[in-house]
Amino acid sequence: MDKIEITGGNELNGQIQISGAKNAALPLMITSLLTPDTLTLKNVPNLRDVNQLKKILGNHGTDLTVEGKRANGNKYAGETYHLTARDIVDTTAPYEMVSTMRASFWVLGPILARCHEAKVSLPGGCAIGTRPVDLHLAGLEALGAQIELEDGYVIAKAPGGLKGGHVRFPKVSVGATINVLMAATLAKGETIIENAATEPEIGDVANCLVKMGAKIEGIGRKTMHIQGVENLEGAVHNVLPDRIETGTFMMAVAATGGEVELLGAVPETLTAAIEVLREAGVSITETPKGLLVKREGDSIKPVHIETQPHPGFPTDLQAQLMGLMTIADGRSVIRETIFENRFMHVQELARLGANISLNGDTAIVEGVKELRGAPVMATDLRASVSLVIAGLVAQGVTTVNRVYHLDRGFERIEEKLGNCGAQINRVSD
Ligand code: EPZ
Repeated sequence: MDKIEITGGNELNGQIQISGAKNAALPLMITSLLTPDTLTLKNVPNLRDVNQLKKILGNHGTDLTVEGKRANGNKYAGETYHLTARDIVDTTAPYEMVSTMRASFWVLGPILARCHEAKVSLPGGCAIGTRPVDLHLAGLEALGAQIELEDGYVIAKAPGGLKGGHVRFPKVSVGATINVLMAATLAKGETIIENAATEPEIGDVANCLVKMGAKIEGIGRKTMHIQGVENLEGAVHNVLPDRIETGTFMMAVAATGGEVELLGAVPETLTAAIEVLREAGVSITETPKGLLVKREGDSIKPVHIETQPHPGFPTDLQAQLMGLMTIADGRSVIRETIFENRFMHVQELARLGANISLNGDTAIVEGVKELRGAPVMATDLRASVSLVIAGLVAQGVTTVNRVYHLDRGFERIEEKLGNCGAQINRVSD
């Protein structure tokens, strides 16, 4: 199994191209199930999760052609996918496939809307928390679906098709918003979604659905109105640049010092993280091509944050911020309010010399003068990359095991950081 080996201590300087967003690419690929025509997606990142979803969609009958990278082209630009689900040949998403990636549960809404029935395995638990699907199911029931749970599967039926309904989510959920939004585009009549998630990736999906012929008002707002249409058509859409990858590299530069331009970064998608980093003493300025990130002075100021749904500080950057705050000049307080078990990086950061104590959903991070390299491993994607950030500043060698977590969500991370001066290598056993 591959490992990443980092010798810490180098500043980062240069430019990094931001890839297409994983969490937009996945639901965008799934929208292809809503139409028999071809959906063309540009700027698709080459990630393990994307490759897994290709297989899952293939099982439902989606044909996929990929325009790969070209010689002399920008090797950091994404690929172009042409997805065509002429017919849905199988309305079942089996356990073996859904259990490997939670986002595959999101095929439920589109298949149900198009075929009036769907059978999708419950996704099960996950390293960061229990992650139930009750909000997805209640939302689809409000659109007239009859839902039963049988042998670990959700069996959903809508004889005669889904009908518009009023959905008011008691809690903000990215996945449930996407599932219901996709289903509502083909339901008869109007659907209102209240307390919708407003993450930029949802806006990206909604904008793509509009290009496909969907009628959606309130994109990017907490209340959306969707008028169902008979059919959706093909479209061409660019995947939004990844705000979590952007925030991750910002924190890496903040930790090491130096000056890096993040090409293609979209500041409006991560205002909360930018604010927190400025408070910590990081200069972030817009350039014609993206964002320029530079640490001001020699040290990082501690911060107090809590994770919140967008536009609050994202849970997907919590581990990375903690990695950075391990070397801050004082005590930081980081509260995780979205997932109940998203502190798996704490004990691994401690192996590098970090001083962190946990009290329920809150981590108290006492900044230390220096981290020291060590072998570490993490059980989820963002936790793994927080260890990379810490490894970049630790004295000596840090080996991050289980690199497949990183490959789920970061394209060519060792190359991108290596080009900016980091000593970082992928090692195969
Ligand atoms: C999405 O997961 C993202 N995944 C996650 O990114 C991200 O951390 C999360 O949103 C929050 O921003 C993708 O986009 C593929 P939720 P999702 O439904 O949709 C509870 C990463 O590292 N909940 O918004 O699964 C749930 O338990 C990943 O890229 C219910 O109670 O998250 C959690 O506490 C990890 N019932 C909260 O809501 C439900 O039916 C938010 O979860 C659904 C969710």
